[in-house]
Amino acid sequence: MPARAECVSLGPDSDLPFPMIDSVSAALFARAERVLPGGVNSPVRAFRAVQGTPVFISRASGAYLYGADQTRYIDYVGSWGPMLLGHAPPNVVAAITEAATRGTSYGAPTEGEVLLAERLIALYPSIEKLRAVSSGTEATMSALRVARGFTGRDLIVKFEGCYHGHADFLLVKAGSGAATFGVPDSAGVPRATAENTLTLPYNDTNALRHLFETRGKDLAAVIVEPVVGNMGVVPPEPGFLETLVELCTSHGAVSIFDEVMTGCRVAQGGMQARVGLRPDLTCLGKIIGGGLPLAVYGGRRLLMDRVAPLGPVYQAGTLSGNPIAVAAALATLDRLDEALYARLEAKGARLQHGLELALSKTGLDACVQRVGSMFTVFFAKGPIRCWEDAKRCDVQRFARWHGAMLARGVYWPPAQFEAAFLSDAHSDDDLTKTLTAAEEAFAESV
Ligand SMILES: Cc1ncc(COP(=O)(O)O)c(C=O)c1O
Repeated sequence: MPARAECVSLGPDSDLPFPMIDSVSAALFARAERVLPGGVNSPVRAFRAVQGTPVFISRASGAYLYGADQTRYIDYVGSWGPMLLGHAPPNVVAAITEAATRGTSYGAPTEGEVLLAERLIALYPSIEKLRAVSSGTEATMSALRVARGFTGRDLIVKFEGCYHGHADFLLVKAGSGAATFGVPDSAGVPRATAENTLTLPYNDTNALRHLFETRGKDLAAVIVEPVVGNMGVVPPEPGFLETLVELCTSHGAVSIFDEVMTGCRVAQGGMQARVGLRPDLTCLGKIIGGGLPLAVYGGRRLLMDRVAPLGPVYQAGTLSGNPIAVAAALATLDRLDEALYARLEAKGARLQHGLELALSKTGLDACVQRVGSMFTVFFAKGPIRCWEDAKRCDVQRFARWHGAMLARGVYWPPAQFEAAFLSDAHSDDDLTKTLTAAEEAFAESV
């Protein structure tokens, strides 16, 4: 398929031309499509959800991405979450550079791994022991293996619209009714695998209670994004997470908070610190890797002592605890303090207020949902509290708005059902420019 280098109409509803993508990116995309599926190494990067052509990035610094033609964009993707400090923070770059001179991988333990575990355990009181892995997918997959190994049960529960990486048994959509056996959400996932995953609507405490009443003794684990980022930002309603943890405890199931996105994002100690809960297991990734491939899963000692070589649950990785990734992680953690989160909250509040004000002038059915420095502009009336609500969004309008933002130098996540992220590097001036762009883009997308 040729790269879309010319103006593209967004279908019958749209009379707005999609902005011209720079010719360097267009040429690179044409080459990429010949050798990479969809031209990318991870699907959402392909801009298909906004019917666009991706900008190829040549470098990044602070709050900015620079396209292949050197166009500067204010970045709200932040590598899909990791770049809390902005791009290329000097102390992290220095730590990576220094670590690389000492060798890139040993396949043997290092002091840095111990330091990292000690630092994370100090921030997350629910974690007594942890294991480092290389991606969020590995973290959730391994945590669920531990839960199954510990309980001797097979069934797991997830919530519709939550994403926990691409392990087979997590690529599952709801069956025909609440709490029915899941069905594969991807080709290549065996039906039998999907059937061990039950799905429920997010924020539906009653459905969760009912499931535990009927199937409680068969459930190995419930895994949840404690703030959803992967259907756009959807916060938990009061009582939802509390009930989840209580039900797991009382039925011998394992509660797993997937804080790959929210960890060190909504607070240093993640969402569990904000709500004062201690799940049995926690998955962290993204920010804690400082932009390098690093994630962890960890939790109660009793559970983690089941992991090999101590226990029978096998899990391993050639590059796990890689010394360069660990150096980036430690340097990132060095920069986190309460003042940073206060700054992020203030910027988030300003952006939310400005976007809401701009929206109120347009009469558009849209809402802004935010927790700290993660937020989403949903092109549907709020509140959005579960996937059924999110599905009502006008994705065509979102696509037009996204294109209009990009044309104004604002790099927003190229899909409606994603979180946008602020970093410590975004300046007041960046926010002012973003709000001006957003107001014009809303007006264009009505
Ligand atoms: C909540 C959550 N869990 C797990 C993952 C998977 O992480 P990774 O992409 O590092 O495999 C993601 C990725 O976006 C995520 O948002």
